[in-house]
Formats: sequence, C-alpha cells, structure tokens
Amino acid sequence: MRILGLETSCDETGIAVYDSERGLLAHALYSQIALHAEYGGVVPELASRDHVRKILPLINQVMEESGSSAADIDGIAYTSGPGLIGALMVGASMGRSLAYAWNVPAIGVHHMEGHLLAPMLEANPPEFPFVALLVSGGHTQLVKVDAIGVYELLGESLDDAAGEAFDKAAKMLDLDYPGGPQIAKLADSGVEGRFVFPRPMVDRPGLDFSFSGLKTFTLTTVAAHKQENGLPDDQTCADIACAFQTAVVETLVIKCKRALEQTGLKTLVIAGGVSANKKLRKDLEIALAKINAKVFYARHEFCTDNGAMIAYAGCQRLLAGQNETLAVNVKARWPL
Ligand code: KG4
Ligand code: ZN
Repeated sequence: MRILGLETSCDETGIAVYDSERGLLAHALYSQIALHAEYGGVVPELASRDHVRKILPLINQVMEESGSSAADIDGIAYTSGPGLIGALMVGASMGRSLAYAWNVPAIGVHHMEGHLLAPMLEANPPEFPFVALLVSGGHTQLVKVDAIGVYELLGESLDDAAGEAFDKAAKMLDLDYPGGPQIAKLADSGVEGRFVFPRPMVDRPGLDFSFSGLKTFTLTTVAAHKQENGLPDDQTCADIACAFQTAVVETLVIKCKRALEQTGLKTLVIAGGVSANKKLRKDLEIALAKINAKVFYARHEFCTDNGAMIAYAGCQRLLAGQNETLAVNVKARWPL
C-alpha cells in the first residue's frame, strides 16, 4: 500500500510518500519559521496562507522524487488535528480533494499519533508494548502504547507543554523562535550549577507534569540579575539556559523512569519536537541503561513536524481497514 501524507497542523508543510512494502520513498518539508520570526511565534492566518502557497508544489515534488504517478497512490493521509484550524483545513481539503479525484480513500490522522509512530520509520523500530513520552510545543504526555490505536494516558502536563516552556524561556533570553533548539545550543556553553532551577512535581506521586513554574523561575532569575548587575551578559544567558534545560530534562527523565517502573515495561519511545534535544536523549540513555530499559527515538528531522510520520500512521490505519466519509473534519483540540 502506497500512501501520500500531508502535514499542515502548524508552521511546517510536510509531504511524504510511504510504501508499506518499500518504506519511505520521498519526503519534503517547507518550514515557515522565517515568516513568523519577527512576531516571536506562529501567526495562524499567515500560516494558513503559506500552506496554500506551498502544498501543491511540494506534493508534485514528492510524487516525482518517489517515482509515483497518481495511479500508484492507494490512499491519502492528512493531519486532522490537533492544531491551528485554518492550517489544518488546507491539508484536509487538499487531501480529501485529491483522494476524490484519484478515487482512493483519505484518512485524517491525529498529529500526536504521527509523532508517536515516527520512530517506527527507523531501521531498528521499537516493539509493542512500550511507554511513549510525547513532548512537543503543545503536548507533554506519558502514554502506554499496546498497539497502534491502543493508547492509555498515564500522565500529562497540567499547564504548559515542555516545548512551550522552552519557547517562552528563550524569549526571556532574547532568543529566536522556536526556542528549544536555541536554548539547547546556548546551554552547551553554559556552566552547570551557577543557577539552580526547581524540578517541578517530582516529589509528588503520579506521572503528571507542570512546566509553567520553570517559565516564571526563568523570568524572576533574569529580572533579579538585571536589578543587581544590569543586562545579563552572554555567559550569564548561557548559564541560565543550561540550568533551565537541565531542570526540564531531569524532570522528564524522573517521570519516564517512574512510568516504566509503574507499567513494568522496558521500552521507552520519545517523540515530538523536544525529543530532538540531545541532552534529553543522552540522559535518558544513561538512566534507562541502569534499569535495563531502552529508549527509542526518530532521526532528528522526524522529531519535529513532518509528512513522513503522517503517511506512516495513515498507512497503518488504512491497512487495519479504517475508512472515512467524504466530510472534511478537522479539530483544533483532540485527545489522543
Ligand atoms: O513537534 P513539534 O515540531 O511541533 C508541535 O507539534 O508542537 O515541536 C516543536 C517544539 C517547539 O516548542 C520547539 O522549541 C521544541 O519542539 N524543540 C526543542 C528542540 N527542537 C525543537 N526543544 C528542546 N530542544 C530541542 N533541540
Ligand atoms: Zn508536532
């Protein structure tokens, strides 16, 4: 089965062709980061308009690169939520229309299911069941995954998502959007221990998270430094970035270990934009090796939004016999 996948939930137009026999045949991504940079975050209306401009040329490109003609495509998968409604509508109406024209089924895919399954595109995919840590700009969730579509929410953030906290802390340090990669880069030259941030909710039982306090802690740390010493210099910003990243990563590691202990499972999958974070990957590898467990993640480019994960997830759903009506359904909010 060969599937064309379309991802347009936020600020990346991601297109891919996945073949259940031959694997990922081609993929392309257009990022709108430069477009939104001057606003310090994604402007929904601008995002929708840019998806409209880019989606068809990218589909043509990926169809050609994958050596596919319309007759080779057996179905179309598009992200139907959660995300920005206008942006989602672009991918959904394009996917539905193409499917109608090509007389193949179209299927709406949950964006976070796409992230969750992205590590399956790698050479050594994890085996079910496993615990998944979904960490993106909009979600921080621990999920028990028994099979595709069989998900049990174990815990989630009660306020900001981890990626959102990275983005907001970055803004306070005058870094560009998206802040996660910027903080990670700056933290490399930071000195561990000069600032110490709290590890929210680790003393409480359970698997929920809270990251809004770390954002406030960043704000007060920067403000206190300004009052005492004036504008923070480059080294101070790096030290704050380092302390912030360590606090987020340590909190995530503690809860992941707890989730594995609670479920008795030995496999952890991390997915979503924050799973690109090198310190998170490394610290999890070290911590899990001690309890005889293993962590899996997607290649760097498939941690953040992309079309390949949507093509893959849609393919699995269509192979399982799932089908949909001709209605174009998108949802801004949608639990996994
Ligand atoms: O999955 P994604 O591309 O979009 C959503 O579905 O939200 O995730 C984007 C989020 C942003 O908050 C970004 O700052 C964060 O992932 N991110 C990172 C890194 N790369 C991206 N956070 C920490 N370290 C990174 N290396
Ligand atoms: Zn995402």
